[in-house]
Amino acid sequence: MDRRFDRAEFVGRLRGEFPAIMASVLNCNFGTLQREVEAVEAAGAEAIHLDVMDGHFVPNLSFGLPIVEAVRRATDLPLDVHLMIDNPAQYVEEFRKAGADHITIHAEVVADPRPLLDKIRSLGASAGLAINPPTPLAAIEPYLQHCNLILVMSVMPGFGGQQFNDVAIDKLSALKARKDVDALLEVDGGVTTETIGRCFQAGAELIVTGSAIFRHEDYNVAVRELRAAAIA
Ligand code: DX5
Ligand code: ZN
Repeated sequence: MDRRFDRAEFVGRLRGEFPAIMASVLNCNFGTLQREVEAVEAAGAEAIHLDVMDGHFVPNLSFGLPIVEAVRRATDLPLDVHLMIDNPAQYVEEFRKAGADHITIHAEVVADPRPLLDKIRSLGASAGLAINPPTPLAAIEPYLQHCNLILVMSVMPGFGGQQFNDVAIDKLSALKARKDVDALLEVDGGVTTETIGRCFQAGAELIVTGSAIFRHEDYNVAVRELRAAAIA
């Protein structure tokens, strides 16, 4: 099955009314991973966001291929794999084989991301480019038309549960205002019921939420509250 993110499908299905909720399992209970994934799917999350960290690009280690494979077995939702690693070129093929539908690399680790974005697409996944809060949009300006998705970080990557950084709102707004950018806009980090409305207004179509869901006692309520806050 081709689970590639498709702008027309996503935007059409959502009719611009709601952003897609990408549930980040970084802080879920890994002892019951399958149940956690099933629970956020039942709660209405549109995709599972998987944060792969190498301890070099970010000061934390998370998980790799076996967890992506396990999540693939647990759900048919799209898998949105966020590679926070120094050498993504070495691993994109394996993450695609493990079940990634969308693979995002960081602009900070590659001189020119275009060949790798092309490679990700050639593997049948959609290709995303992420930028950290201190990285200006100008750094990815030449590559905007080369992305299926642009991931605007609203925290320094590495940990869940951090404070939202407003610099992401400015970047999303600037990207949304451009007529020549067709990539889906995604935001990641510190998104809660307090911040999701501004993200959606600024143009985020895909919204990553970790602790806002997994630290809530009821994932159904968490997703419902996020959606309501997005359009409030
Ligand atoms: C941060 C990760 C995020 C994180 C989001 O490095 O890329 O995806 O899991 O978690 P919250 O929503 O708790 O900020
Ligand atoms: Zn992430």
